[in-house]
Order: sequence, then structure tokens, then C-alpha cells
Amino acid sequence: MVIALTGFMGSGKSSVGRELATLLSSPFIDLDDYIVGKAGMSIPEIFAASGEEGFRALETEALAEVIGTPSSATASGHLVLSLGGGTILRPENAALIASHCRCVFLRTSLETVRRRLSGESAGRPMLRRADIGELFASRAAAYASAADVIIDTDSLAPADIAGRIAAGL
Ligand code: S3P
Repeated sequence: MVIALTGFMGSGKSSVGRELATLLSSPFIDLDDYIVGKAGMSIPEIFAASGEEGFRALETEALAEVIGTPSSATASGHLVLSLGGGTILRPENAALIASHCRCVFLRTSLETVRRRLSGESAGRPMLRRADIGELFASRAAAYASAADVIIDTDSLAPADIAGRIAAGL
């Protein structure tokens, strides 16, 4: 099974994903890292060269490669995939995730993401393009509707969140 982690920037998708993969002895893919490897450019460089649309096109291609390839899953049957904060927004991505993944929404409060993301805008171009509060509010329903499971993570450490996800499989 592909376990896909979604949520806003700073919700802990990558750190929880790493913990969960270790717990399940499964491979781990961070979609942003996969995109960077595929493009040979950092995320800010991709945004600068081809805009958000260019980045989103690469993201859709990368998602299809990662979850459309049956060999991605190991003998144990699991692959842990940390999505980007905007991945589930494109309907074709949401459809692919719905048909191939168990999707877990790592829900955080706006205060938590503001605290975690302060000073992080260099690596996260969306933070420079949009008001964080508006972006957060505009995406909340999309994360929830893509999710099979929602975990409120504000007071939990990554290892605890990973443990809860693993226990619910
Ligand atoms: C984005 C989130 C980023 C990355 C890109 C766009 C977004 O991933 O995919 O900068 O639109 O929320 P993280 O959520 O891992 O920071």
C-alpha cells in the first residue's frame, strides 16, 4: 500500500514520513526531493524558471511516476510518500492519490505552521507568492476531502504521529 502524507507546508510530512518508513521498514519517497532530482534544479529554481504552473506540471508527472509504478512497493507492500503541500490541489493528482493511496492529512493549526515556517521562505516560493493565512484557509477543505485519515498533530512528535498511522493500517 502507498501511504501518502498530505498537509500544509510545515505540517511535518517529511519528518513523519521518514519515521513511518523506518517503523514499517518500507521505502520512503519525498515528492519534492523526487522532483528536484528529476529536474536537476531546486524548487525555488524551478519556480523561477517556469513559474508555479511549470512546477505543478512536473509535480503531476512525478506523482504519476512514483505511484503509477507497481515496483515502488516493497515485499512488505508499503511505500511511504510525503506529498508537497499543494499536490492534492490538482484534480488529476487527487484522483490518482484516491485510487492508489491511503492518504493521511497531518492537520496543524495556522499558529503552528506560522511558527515553523518563519524564516523559511527562501526554500518555499509559495510563501513569497501568497499570504500564508489565506493559503492555509483556502486549502483546508481540500486536504480533508483527500484524506482517509486525519491526525491533529500540533501536540505530537513525529515518532508519535508515525506510530498512530502505523497502528491504523
Ligand atoms: C508547496 C509546498 C512545498 C513544495 C512547493 C509548493 C505548496 O512542499 O511542493 O514549494 O504549494 O504548498 P512542502 O509542503 O513539503 O514544503
